[in-house]
Amino acid sequence: MSHWTPSKPYELFNQSCYGLSPLADNTIDALVTDPPYGISFQNHEWDKNLPQRQIWEDCVRVLKHGAFGVVFSSVRLMHRLMVDLEDSGFLIKDVLFWAYLNGMPKSRDIGLEIDKELGVTSKVVGKYDYVQGYKKGGADNYYTNNEKLKYEPHSEIGIQYKGAGLGLKPAYEPMILVQKPIEKGLNVAQNVLKYGTGALNLEQTRIPYAKGEGKVGHNPHPNGRVSANILRTDEFEDGYDKFFVVPKVRQNAEDFNKHPTLKPVDLMQHLVKLVSFENQTILDPFMGSGSTGVACLVLQRKFVGFELEKEYFEICRKRLAMIDSQE
Ligand SMILES: C[S@@+](CC[C@H](N)C(=O)[O-])C[C@H]1O[C@@H](n2cnc3c(N)ncnc32)[C@H](O)[C@@H]1O
Repeated sequence: MSHWTPSKPYELFNQSCYGLSPLADNTIDALVTDPPYGISFQNHEWDKNLPQRQIWEDCVRVLKHGAFGVVFSSVRLMHRLMVDLEDSGFLIKDVLFWAYLNGMPKSRDIGLEIDKELGVTSKVVGKYDYVQGYKKGGADNYYTNNEKLKYEPHSEIGIQYKGAGLGLKPAYEPMILVQKPIEKGLNVAQNVLKYGTGALNLEQTRIPYAKGEGKVGHNPHPNGRVSANILRTDEFEDGYDKFFVVPKVRQNAEDFNKHPTLKPVDLMQHLVKLVSFENQTILDPFMGSGSTGVACLVLQRKFVGFELEKEYFEICRKRLAMIDSQE
């Protein structure tokens, strides 16, 4: 069987990633992927379960010795994903935190549930004047403005528990940094010389000092600090702070892109830079609308991606073609 070779800037496969059959052993320089979290996000069918371990074994097969990878995860299930990654042959190197601060709490007012349990009608106290959550049926099914009523508990015990809930506001997502072990018998330098993989690209991912920042340590590097394992989203003031500042994208930030878990391209660029060097090839087996691919093309990396859903695949194809035509 003939395998795909990274001769073109990118290649997209509208098929299941399992098996990674178009890819030969030991040919890919890095993995950057945002797989299903297994938390049924917005009731999407594809997010019902974590990926099967097989795909991580497939990734180990196609990655070069010493290659690094970043795998997005969720707070609730990262422990299972980490076990799968480790059992597939990856070394767990770090857990990066992308903190964005503007996540939406998914909780319920237990006071209202107590009213319901007691058969008491809760009090209508107005209407929401902003988009509030999703109706059952997924992302296409938003409440429109001023459609959803606001309630407060009415029973005595309900009032006691007014506002009590079950979950915190999510403010970060973990990203697992993994590495395929370097080749047996080689040291890191020998592995880098043989495969071009085995080292993180810390030089290109340095975080510039904030404007006017006075004290920056004993031996400041002219390009800034070594990239931290917290990537923080906050207000942009000087552009950067000690960590890497990147805002979360709103859904439909691009008019034709309806992917519900779209990732910011700035964040993806930072991660792509961290795990690769120019002209290397990055794999994303769960590419969605292709944010990893966009980052790769902008940064002169080659990209190979898989996406099962035709709708997302087409969005990805359009995004990458737009960038490719600008280059
Ligand atoms: C979290 S989303 C990725 C979103 C992406 N980061 C973006 O910015 O658009 C995960 C994607 O994996 C896809 N997927 C799920 N199972 C798959 C499989 N077996 N093979 C390929 N893609 C799959 C889903 O359709 C979904 O689009």
